[in-house]
Amino acid sequence: MRGRWWQGLDLRVLRHVRGVLRRRGLELTLVEHRPVDAGAFAAIDPAEPNGAGLALIGPELSAPEVELIEHMLGEAALDVSLALRDRDEEPDLEAGKRMRYAGILGGAPNMQELYSLIERVAPTDSTVLIQGENGTGKELVARAIHTRSLRSGHRFVVTNCSAFNDNLLDSELFGHKRGAFTGAVADKAGLFETADLGTFFLDEIGDMSPTLQVKVLRVLQEGTFNRVGDTETRKVDVRIIAATNRDLTAMVREGLYREDLFYRINVINVALPALRERRGDVALLVDAFLTRQSTQAKARSKKLSAECMQRMLEYPWPGNVRELENEIERLVVLSGHDPVIAESLLSPRIRTYTPDPAAIADADVDSLPAAVEALERKMISAAMRRHSGNKTRAAEELKVSRRNLIRLVQKYELE
Ligand SMILES: Nc1ncnc2c1ncn2[C@@H]1O[C@H](COP(=O)(O)OP(=O)(O)O)[C@@H](O)[C@H]1O
Ligand SMILES: [Mg+2]
Repeated sequence: MRGRWWQGLDLRVLRHVRGVLRRRGLELTLVEHRPVDAGAFAAIDPAEPNGAGLALIGPELSAPEVELIEHMLGEAALDVSLALRDRDEEPDLEAGKRMRYAGILGGAPNMQELYSLIERVAPTDSTVLIQGENGTGKELVARAIHTRSLRSGHRFVVTNCSAFNDNLLDSELFGHKRGAFTGAVADKAGLFETADLGTFFLDEIGDMSPTLQVKVLRVLQEGTFNRVGDTETRKVDVRIIAATNRDLTAMVREGLYREDLFYRINVINVALPALRERRGDVALLVDAFLTRQSTQAKARSKKLSAECMQRMLEYPWPGNVRELENEIERLVVLSGHDPVIAESLLSPRIRTYTPDPAAIADADVDSLPAAVEALERKMISAAMRRHSGNKTRAAEELKVSRRNLIRLVQKYELE
């Protein structure tokens, strides 16, 4: 897909492992996806256990041998990921375009901006506020910032502020002293302590009550807090990354959110684009998720039919990448043994969605010819659908000659 991305790596550990294996007559391969028939396998990116990695294909190994080899591979994979990171990021920056970054997929211009922002922000200790609709990858980005930071050797702790009631969240975040409330049978450390020296990801920060907002503000300002019911003041060194899909500025204006906390959190603001603002990435995401699905199922990768892909390209994805990922999972299951996924299997909301031809909202389209093509494709595809593929009638409606329409239908593969 992206060519031989591993070329030019200088890996001592890898060579060492390879040497050991070769002496035993075993061959090690660097693969882009976990092979179905791997005897042993180590993923380069722990976040993508079925992604690129080092594989030993096929040989019959005993369980302890597999364990030993995977252990050795694991070390090498770490090195490979470091080498890839060094190699990947500089030259690709020059080339101007990255199709993925730290487990985040996307090649659109707004994603390039995101990657370079993450790169600049990660090594600092600044608090980061990630804003974006549901499913745009806020947690993924928070993790990326942590793994690219100097704190990566320490914990990345996640909590969802909307998943608890106020008292529970208080104890969850700050811990409690034995007897502080009914059920507090022992002293308990909170997540701020767990995250000490690492990164704490506070998801749905907009859902936090005013009382807790005060306590969190204090940690941000002084690094100190008390466990619930405890007089002892504790100190932690935690980097905070917060996320929300709500409009905090508006909440501040309406008095629903503390202004001082908002400014403390919003030191660096990372706004994630909605998927409809980077439509050019839909095909790439479809491919990646199809591959991921098939590797998980230890099966061959499937393809979408042209019509099915066309629907996916037109649909506005209000649930963003999460919605697309779920749709692919569903399609893979429903298509059974068929290698090609038919349009008829699409969820009804996607299959029957009719784009508004007047709206060329493609944020990804940055030239006039590309915008014209996008509009042509949309209008023709919608007209063809309305007339069930009848070109004479579609041409009439669009006020173009039938010959012209046929040419365009071929050009955009809308048959
Ligand atoms: N840019 C992306 N590349 C790859 N996967 C993504 C991307 N954005 C989101 N996802 C996937 O979509 C799902 C939702 O992502 P998540 O980070 O939980 O979104 P949010 O927190 O914004 O709702 C996850 O499975 C995540 O891996
Ligand atoms: Mg989330």
